[in-house]
Amino acid sequence: MKIHHIGYLVKEIDKAIEEFKKLGFIITIEKCFDGNYIADFAFLQKDGYCVELICPVNDKSPIYGLMKKHKNSPYHICYEVDNIEQTINDLIKQGYLLFKEIFSVSVLNNKRFSFLMNSHIGMIELTEKKDI
Ligand code: NI
Repeated sequence: MKIHHIGYLVKEIDKAIEEFKKLGFIITIEKCFDGNYIADFAFLQKDGYCVELICPVNDKSPIYGLMKKHKNSPYHICYEVDNIEQTINDLIKQGYLLFKEIFSVSVLNNKRFSFLMNSHIGMIELTEKKDI
């Protein structure tokens, strides 16, 4: 498993992008809207680190509660894997709970993702290897 990105909740995505740019990040995927999450997101990169910014646009977003709780902060690490189904099964055997079934993101070339929970390290995300 290779680290793919760090997911970062933000309250105002345009302002967050500007601040990350001042820190030397470059935008790799411009701000776009995801209908499933009812949230804007964007990807930035610096020194080989990829940060995914996520900003719920209203209180109907399934991650609105998370943002209220965490404010502006990183909240998951996403790992890229060769076989997402197999890795989910392996992690469940190790005690992880499936938090969100596999879903695909159309604006990311239908790349598939899933979330799992662990009682000691919280939420992790998996994604399959795929060019976006
Ligand atoms: Ni993510």
